[in-house]
Amino acid sequence: MELTASKALRGEVTVPGDKSISHRSVMFGAIAQGTTEVTNFLQGADCLSTISCFQKLGIEIENTPERILVHGKGLHGLSAPSEVLDAGNSGTTTRLISGILSGQTFETTLTGDASIQKRPMKRIMEPLSLMGAKIESVRKNGCAPLHITGSSLHGITYSTPVASAQVKSSILLAGLYADGQTSVTEPALSRNHTELMLSGFGADICSDGLTATITPGNELYAQQIFVPGDISSAAYFLAAGLLVPGSELLIRNVGINPTRAGILTVIRAMGGNLTVLNERACAGEPVADLLVSASSLHGTTVEGNLIPALIDEIPMIAVMAAFANGQTVIRDAAELKVKESDRIATVTAGLRAMGCDITPTDDGMIIRGGKTLHGAEIDSYLDHRIAMSFAVAALAADGVTSIKDADCVKISYPNFYDDLLGLAK
Ligand code: S3P
Repeated sequence: MELTASKALRGEVTVPGDKSISHRSVMFGAIAQGTTEVTNFLQGADCLSTISCFQKLGIEIENTPERILVHGKGLHGLSAPSEVLDAGNSGTTTRLISGILSGQTFETTLTGDASIQKRPMKRIMEPLSLMGAKIESVRKNGCAPLHITGSSLHGITYSTPVASAQVKSSILLAGLYADGQTSVTEPALSRNHTELMLSGFGADICSDGLTATITPGNELYAQQIFVPGDISSAAYFLAAGLLVPGSELLIRNVGINPTRAGILTVIRAMGGNLTVLNERACAGEPVADLLVSASSLHGTTVEGNLIPALIDEIPMIAVMAAFANGQTVIRDAAELKVKESDRIATVTAGLRAMGCDITPTDDGMIIRGGKTLHGAEIDSYLDHRIAMSFAVAALAADGVTSIKDADCVKISYPNFYDDLLGLAK
């Protein structure tokens, strides 16, 4: 994919449905009684992996462009798959489904692509084992493929060393099948869609600060879910509107749940022109339209409790920092190393290739911004967020940028390039 400096970007865009909420709508719908109807479902490869796993577990799922229907069979309605479950590139599928599979009465093997087979699964294997689950890494390396033998589970009180919604959710979902209460405490609050949505489906779940507690016993019941636009996808348009001279973009219907909206805080801290319009609630999640216009940005520090609220947006934030005046420090973000790629390394490689002064650190990066970036050959490392972040960088840089394996954006945003390039006026 080749991209060059863009004319001003103007107009409106509606980004696809939220990836985290789309996954959960299928998973929770599958173990609820009745038919869950989901509109604005993200038709990205990751969410299609979740659909395919639950189909193999005996759940009928109708997927049409207008809506998906998940014909749930209740908490104990899944059946043994006749083949290995394939989570593709999706960490959310792998970790959340492992929690559900731990409480079943059958065995499953769960795998994924080359990236998934390198990502750490001990973080779920340890707490699930404490609950009584039999979950093994087939190659004994702490990664997928995982072999899970369903068992009777016990409630636990667990403190996670990392702020991870995938870990928290995996434990809470296993907690639905346990013989007593399960509490998970995290070091900082990660996205809380599981807590909000499980409560909507009828589970007895409550949150108190950094602790979420689930009490088993309630059946789950089918819901109607309208999935808000994904702020992680909106991030690319926010950045493009801020960075490409003369731009003004309205991004409609974006979920702004505070556990996800850290990028808005960073944009304000960098001096970006951002207006949040029409704030409203949609299926228990706050939603708004976001208006941005081209801005002269300055450096900032991104750290601490804010990190989980923008973890997936850091590649895009790093690109914004490269165009901003002064220094940006990103720290407390060692989790970047275990995403779809090692994003400390892949962001550094891409930005250096474009002429940016960047130093990777153990838990983030230091970016000395303000130099004009030039086009370059960028390896996406098959990481959708790297491809999209550097596509935006290309529009604001001099010369031609080519992105290798650019079609990996299909993981979370199949129509990304058309939507982005269609805004050039
Ligand atoms: C997600 C949680 C985050 C995020 C991922 C989606 C989720 O991962 O990076 O894209 O839907 O729960 P971690 O829980 O590993 O931080």
